[in-house]
Amino acid sequence: MIPFIRPTLPSPEAWLPFLRASYAARYFSNGGPCARQLEAALTQKYAQPQREAILVSSGTSGITAALLALDIHGPVVVPAFTFPATAQAVLAAGCTPVFCDVSLATWELDPQSLTDILANQTIQAIIHVRAFGFCQDITSIEDIAAAHTVPLLVDAAAALGGRLPQGPYAGGQGLLEIFSLHATKVFGIGEGGVIFAPPGRAAEKIRTAIHFGLENDAVVGRGVNGKLSEFGAAVGLALLANIDDFIAHRAHRARHYASRLAAHMALAHPEAPGAPPWQSFPVLLDPLDTALSTTQVVAACKDRGLEIKRYYHPALHTQRCFASGARLPHSEQLANRMVCLPIYSDMTVEENESVIQIFLHSLGMKKPIHD
Ligand SMILES: Cc1ncc(COP(=O)(O)O)c(C=O)c1O
Repeated sequence: MIPFIRPTLPSPEAWLPFLRASYAARYFSNGGPCARQLEAALTQKYAQPQREAILVSSGTSGITAALLALDIHGPVVVPAFTFPATAQAVLAAGCTPVFCDVSLATWELDPQSLTDILANQTIQAIIHVRAFGFCQDITSIEDIAAAHTVPLLVDAAAALGGRLPQGPYAGGQGLLEIFSLHATKVFGIGEGGVIFAPPGRAAEKIRTAIHFGLENDAVVGRGVNGKLSEFGAAVGLALLANIDDFIAHRAHRARHYASRLAAHMALAHPEAPGAPPWQSFPVLLDPLDTALSTTQVVAACKDRGLEIKRYYHPALHTQRCFASGARLPHSEQLANRMVCLPIYSDMTVEENESVIQIFLHSLGMKKPIHD
């Protein structure tokens, strides 16, 4: 079986040496030597002006902690087309997700739907999701948030190391951006996350929120335990040596998918996706390309030895836990027809080609599938 995920974490030989500093200091938590070194390295490598890296225990805890740090209570806008973690993090912060439709052109928050919600409800915060780690310029969403004086947070879980169309790394839009370092992500360390936030008081408040709301032994606000351990930070430090090569390799594989698949089917990605790190390769199934349902395509691939995955499905507003009764047609349409093909940091050309062959055959294509 060709798996959907094949993480490429650094070997123990590569990350164990970083832990010597933690053992020497007998300091394994609460911002120990590895965590401090990784934060400095991530700030230097990826942070945009007026941002610093704050390590957290996961992307989800990072979103919750950011909401707590900003002292947000009440309704928070979340796209319906996202991974459940976005909405779960909102609930964990004691807030209520308000699901917004996405645009068919960007797969991300739809400006008109967002504006309509802001006109009709008192919204306390907006969470924009960088779908699949695409790195689109979200200035239009920033403008809407600013016009309504509502704080904008960016859930950029799968986007670390990706660049916006204008060139800079993702991480500098909204009030702050939150990334996941989960093993399935390109910058994967096992479990972890990183927030890029303005330095000074804003960053301090996040550090307080991930440390039980404690400042100088006094509880000054709501908080969680959201700190990254030294062990995860050591893996991250070792990964820095390879991450640029990994992302370049994935971009090659993505280009190969795009050129080969586009010869056989409609391939619709957002228009200006920037240079994402390519956690996976999303494909929106066009009814003209296959008469099969999405479930049937996934099953047909599995029968032929390929694991592909549906993401952001079912759309969150239709899930029992969140059911809002709203109709958000774009989110439903995308969620119902989206599948993701695997990309690994060490995927061979042959594996890349096998996925293409199996996938196209599984769509029920009759014509020959060679170049
Ligand atoms: C859009 C989105 N937000 C948040 C998360 C949560 O990240 P983590 O698994 O690090 O908690 C994910 C995880 O895949 C995600 O895809």
